[in-house]
Amino acid sequence: MTSSTSSVVPPGQFGLPFIGETLAFLRDKDFAKKRYEKYGSIFKTSLFGQPTIVVKGATANQFVISNEDRYFISAWPKSTRTLLGSLSLVIQTGHEHLQRRKLLAKAFRPRALSSYIETIEGITQQYLKSWEEQKTLTWYPEIRNYTFDIACQLFVGLEKGSQTELGHLFETLVQGLFTIPLSLPWTKFGRALEGRNKLLAELEKIIQTRQQQQDWGNDALGILMQAEDDEGNKLSIEELKDQIITLLFAGHETLTSSLTSFCLLMRQHPDIFKKAKAEQEQLLGNEKITLENLQQLTYLDQVLKEVLRFVPPVGGAFREVIADCEFQGYKFPKGWNVLYQINQTHQQETVYPEPNTYRPERFNPELENNPSKTYDYVPFGGGMRECIGKEFARLEMKILAVHLLRDYHWELLPNQDTDLIMIPAPRPKDGLKVKFERC
Ligand code: HEM
Repeated sequence: MTSSTSSVVPPGQFGLPFIGETLAFLRDKDFAKKRYEKYGSIFKTSLFGQPTIVVKGATANQFVISNEDRYFISAWPKSTRTLLGSLSLVIQTGHEHLQRRKLLAKAFRPRALSSYIETIEGITQQYLKSWEEQKTLTWYPEIRNYTFDIACQLFVGLEKGSQTELGHLFETLVQGLFTIPLSLPWTKFGRALEGRNKLLAELEKIIQTRQQQQDWGNDALGILMQAEDDEGNKLSIEELKDQIITLLFAGHETLTSSLTSFCLLMRQHPDIFKKAKAEQEQLLGNEKITLENLQQLTYLDQVLKEVLRFVPPVGGAFREVIADCEFQGYKFPKGWNVLYQINQTHQQETVYPEPNTYRPERFNPELENNPSKTYDYVPFGGGMRECIGKEFARLEMKILAVHLLRDYHWELLPNQDTDLIMIPAPRPKDGLKVKFERC
């Protein structure tokens, strides 16, 4: 598993000229499964105009994840790179990336997380009240506004972000993230680029006001404005703007997906809901939520871990091969892409018997072969590019879960399609229609 000696690339087909097998990849849920059955656990294809090697499983994940900057760098489509900006953490590489990760991580340290709890709870209460008043609702768009409001408040100090101009601009930007990068007024990408420029102007106003008033604010932007890297440098305004857009984007779609999956799965598995509710009643009751007492809810922890295994919000991640290398006897040529598949890794029968059954007990901490500490469980990726917001995501998931378990009951409304749309992140086709009430 070092620099290349083999001249054989993995088996597979490139498909049509230019588009390769992209359409099948986007449309066919079993795209990878069929190819793994045919070629084994590693195959080549062509996606988004690039020859791509697709892998799954602990050994392959570890190879890709732990060789960042040596054999691989992250590879995002041009539309994403342009719209997130060249100074975004997900685009940065090498030394600069490492320095910036350290800076951004300050916004997700335990002390910062603790200070976020009150705000998250306040927004949670507002939304729960509104859902209760609505009685029946389509939950996915509501949860989307909920996660965005929390992100706006905690990252840039903006209240009810989903209802503001910034929220609308951000929505336009998100629409263009995975599109053909053709910048014309009527294309999604063109509109998204215009949205980005206006969004940058809005963020600049917020930053300048804080600079003028020498008041940094009690949020992630404030932490980033004051932070210095190891060489004593502060982030430029240009970079602050790109990094804030990145945090808003990375935390929003993913959390919305995982919370919606939780709500759906709890309804589909009332016995598991009951058990989680009993744990919350016994250990937390109506106590004020803290980082410490949330840790006692070990069954809820398993429930949420299994949500992220069963429906991982990020299905996989692309890398570009920057130096020829070899893995399991196959050559990975420089210039190709690699996709490590999180969703297929979480479907391996050898690790997760009956993988299509939702079963939190797989992650019982007392089990000897609990997969959650291995590269067979990678909802947040790993290594130098591991999700920087993972503890924040877990916190937000737990807070909403605790409140729902404590006081609420919901039923799925009839005549709706709960099958999932997978891109950009999984969500039920009809948006999860429910009858929602206090119990
Ligand atoms: C990276 C998943 C929530 C910020 C990643 C990666 C995954 C992931 C798989 C690695 C991608 C790769 O290998 O290239 C998730 C999931 C979430 C979640 C499943 C929710 C359940 C969040 C939140 C934030 C966040 C709440 C911030 C507020 C980031 C950032 C990166 C990242 C900035 C890029 C890290 C880097 O390139 O160094 N996330 N994420 N994520 N995530 Fe998350």
